[in-house]
Amino acid sequence: MTDLPEALAAKAHATAALLREAAALGETALASSLSAEDMVLTDLIVRESVPISVFTLETGRLAPETVGMIDKITEHWGIPVDVYRPDPDAVAAYVADHGRDAFYESVDLRKACCGIRKVAPLKRALAGKAAWITGQRRGQGVTRTELAVREHDAAHDLEKFNPLADWTWEDVLAYVAARAVPINPLHARGYPSIGCDPCTRAIRPGEDPRAGRWWWEQSDSKECGLHVSELPKTTLIGAAS
Ligand code: ADX
Ligand code: SF4
Repeated sequence: MTDLPEALAAKAHATAALLREAAALGETALASSLSAEDMVLTDLIVRESVPISVFTLETGRLAPETVGMIDKITEHWGIPVDVYRPDPDAVAAYVADHGRDAFYESVDLRKACCGIRKVAPLKRALAGKAAWITGQRRGQGVTRTELAVREHDAAHDLEKFNPLADWTWEDVLAYVAARAVPINPLHARGYPSIGCDPCTRAIRPGEDPRAGRWWWEQSDSKECGLHVSELPKTTLIGAAS
């Protein structure tokens, strides 16, 4: 890892070790939001020949620049990306009942949309896997300051690894620059965090990195349900009785 500054090389080394630890558990996949963090992880997976596949949740509301990264991954690294899409009937029912952009109206309607377009497809993507990898970092905001590098994901019943937990945004940018890793062009236009197009805006200098995600909501509600690792309350009550 001599092409990287020393401190970053050490982080990349530790990240690669976590990727191998995950893969040793059995079938493992990287959940790629097609953002720079996931490109760093894809690069390490390919470079280190770790047997980890890559999937993305194509919600149907991603920006064209983001969707374009799917082909970019295959072009750059020569690997396939498994694309999971929402159930078209569930999407049609949501649109008919509430309207296509009803997520602006309430947190509940926003979470319902994320449930259909992201959380349900994630469940399908993780079925049968032993572990999954995410590009989450502690620096991404108030909901992620306690992020562990490895945790048990009770909601999906498998191990979950966040091998970039201690990476800063500057580390990510330094890595992609040093290794000529392709990244979503939206990053250069003021988007450090990229989700669905209608729910993501550019941020101004000094703003929180996730300020552009669901910007009309309070910062403590800004999670879409992909990263809930506890069992729902009803299941816990059932399990205790
Ligand atoms: S989100 O929960 O707010 O949407 P964020 O965009 O910060 O998550 O991404 C954190 C990590 O969640 C990504 O690095 C990736 O591992 C996973 N993730 C988020 N969105 C997707 C997606 N559309 N497809 C696959 N993985 C995703
Ligand atoms: Fe729907 Fe927005 Fe969630 Fe995407 S981020 S699934 S468009 S509410």
